[in-house]
Amino acid sequence: MNSKSARPSVQTVKEPDNWNPESWQDFNALQQASYPDENALQHVLGQLSQLPPLVTSWEINTLREQIADAQQGRRFMLQGGDCAENFDECTSPLITNRLKVLLQMSLVLVHGLQMPVLRVGRYAGQYAKPRSSDQETRDGVTLPSYRGDLVNSIEFNEAARIPDPNRLIQAHASSALTMNFVRALVDGGFADLHHPEYWDLSWVEHSPLAEEFHKLAENIGRSLKFLETISGQDAGTLRRVDFFTSHEALHLHYEQALTRKVPRQWGWFNLSTHFPWIGMRTAALDGAHVEYFRGIRNPLGIKVGPGMDVDWLSRLLDVLNPDGEAGRIVLIHRMGENLIEDKLPPLIQAVQDNGSPVLWICDPMHGNTESTESGIKTRRFRKIMHEVDLAFDIHRGSNSRLGGVHLELTGEDVTECTGGARDLSDEDLKRAYKSTVDPRLNYEQSLELAMLIVRKYAQSS
Ligand code: PEP
Ligand code: CO
Repeated sequence: MNSKSARPSVQTVKEPDNWNPESWQDFNALQQASYPDENALQHVLGQLSQLPPLVTSWEINTLREQIADAQQGRRFMLQGGDCAENFDECTSPLITNRLKVLLQMSLVLVHGLQMPVLRVGRYAGQYAKPRSSDQETRDGVTLPSYRGDLVNSIEFNEAARIPDPNRLIQAHASSALTMNFVRALVDGGFADLHHPEYWDLSWVEHSPLAEEFHKLAENIGRSLKFLETISGQDAGTLRRVDFFTSHEALHLHYEQALTRKVPRQWGWFNLSTHFPWIGMRTAALDGAHVEYFRGIRNPLGIKVGPGMDVDWLSRLLDVLNPDGEAGRIVLIHRMGENLIEDKLPPLIQAVQDNGSPVLWICDPMHGNTESTESGIKTRRFRKIMHEVDLAFDIHRGSNSRLGGVHLELTGEDVTECTGGARDLSDEDLKRAYKSTVDPRLNYEQSLELAMLIVRKYAQSS
């Protein structure tokens, strides 16, 4: 029998055996903070576990349904935001601009792909970062590495780098403030987002595709006006559930404290975010992260890099989605433009053989990071787009479907990635490089990427 049809339906999803929110503590937990005062940590975790959650179980269930739709090719997923949020960037303009660029991109995609877009912010909780080394040495001084604002502070001195559990409370508060503002903006309409005549499209003139991009923007404007005329309603009215949040669920004590039971629902929900994902460095089958993730009801993201082999991926699906539930798994491949053609096809085949329903999306950022001659970490727009192009083609050629993209971006005019319509050079990176971690697409590059995705989709369908 075909393994796909042998999979049970959603109704038969069972509670996982031998699992509870702290069972991960019996496994090897990589990338955790090492707190000097265990009592202080436990005190904070006790407080955190009493604080209200950031999202609700019914929003999480809606997201699962929308991912299931995307798995069937009826939605496209756009996930984007900063590599890492900082506490001091929890400000009105930054939150507004980041939401704005995501909503504008999603409008381009809705119009161009002719299907609804599932919007997921990489924020309201993206405060923990995996590091390649536990320690950092500068001029003979060795200190703990910066692990994100959830854990410690980026300044290079001892006081700043010692993990401070009170930051867990601050992260919860900053996430809640961000969430509250995003909910209000999304609920309230945000009129200038929805009409391209209010967008900043000055960059378009610099693109060889200027005419095509202008036409696209005009068409979006025309469709919206038409919609408003026939419905008598402002097209800017979005429903609250139309925006979801995500972060890498890295710091397991934090995630555990926000993992709750919900009345009249079975199972445990991570109520710190709608959509937690497992990063590349913590996806070991026998590790604590996989143990934690297998027990929660949230849809799960899994980063899939060039180091993942077919057996590992297939076993992850068995452990994380034993009942073959639709809408539960999103595989975020991040191979790099030079490895994707070799590495992705066997993994697509392995997933098809396994039979678990998944949504494949492409993160064209993390496999394309490089350093300039002067040592600045950057990404080339051309390579980012090339990986997306290849991803569309490879999926199509493998009887699969690319169902979305995962991007590191900001709504600001930063210069962190080179290229794009304005053709930013290595020299330009010095002008407005703000990221403390990975380089992000700026407002213009993000919108351009959305337009290029539409173009690619139109060419290949
Ligand atoms: C990230 O998404 O910021 C990240 C660290 O990615 P990965 O785990 O894919 O390297
Ligand atoms: Co990153």
